[in-house]
Amino acid sequence: MRTHVVDHPLVTHKLTTLRDESTDSPTFRHLTDELVALLAYEATREVRVVPVEITTPVAPTTGVRLASPKPLVVPILRAGLGMLDGFMRLVPTAEVGFLGMVRNEETLEASTYANRLPDDLAGRQCYVLDPMLATGGTLAAAIRFLVDRGADHITAICLLTAPEGTQRLEEELADIDVPVTVVTAAMDERLNEKGYIVPGLGDAGDRLYG
Ligand code: PRP
Repeated sequence: MRTHVVDHPLVTHKLTTLRDESTDSPTFRHLTDELVALLAYEATREVRVVPVEITTPVAPTTGVRLASPKPLVVPILRAGLGMLDGFMRLVPTAEVGFLGMVRNEETLEASTYANRLPDDLAGRQCYVLDPMLATGGTLAAAIRFLVDRGADHITAICLLTAPEGTQRLEEELADIDVPVTVVTAAMDERLNEKGYIVPGLGDAGDRLYG
């Protein structure tokens, strides 16, 4: 598994405002949207394309188009939904699947309450959207779900990650031979005793949707 922290002043600028407790929900949603577009630009560096021949008004030339089947993007409900528009602006032809997952705030274990994904993901490139990679339980389960259905290339886009979460992903996904990349705006310091990322930005779902 590879973790790619996007080091760019615009990313850090937007993330700083997201972290600020005085940022209200409408601004938080808007900034999330903008930040995801920047992260998605980096996250799609390996999106599959095919060569095509076209003719400009001046001359024939060659270029690329997105390969088929198109990428599948999977926001993890609820908070991942706030990242979908930003991703779709960059890849408007992506197919969308949904996973509803929630973390038990006592045990910190993730459980799945909704699944709207194609059954067969053989050969599909998948992008998972989840703002927080905290203990890693949610993302590990989501990635396992996709790999079990045949996905063969997975990129997760997270606003924030904690070292404990990436460590757990490494351990829990050690047996799969599918490339997994986490693209994130920052690797924070640690988790606190409640499983929140420190310094973090609080509960992303609550800040997006109240
Ligand atoms: C949050 C967050 C991630 C998960 C991360 O979701 O959006 O999905 O927790 O935690 P983990 O890495 O420790 O598993 P939450 O369970 O609060 O649900 P919500 O998106 O509906 O608010």
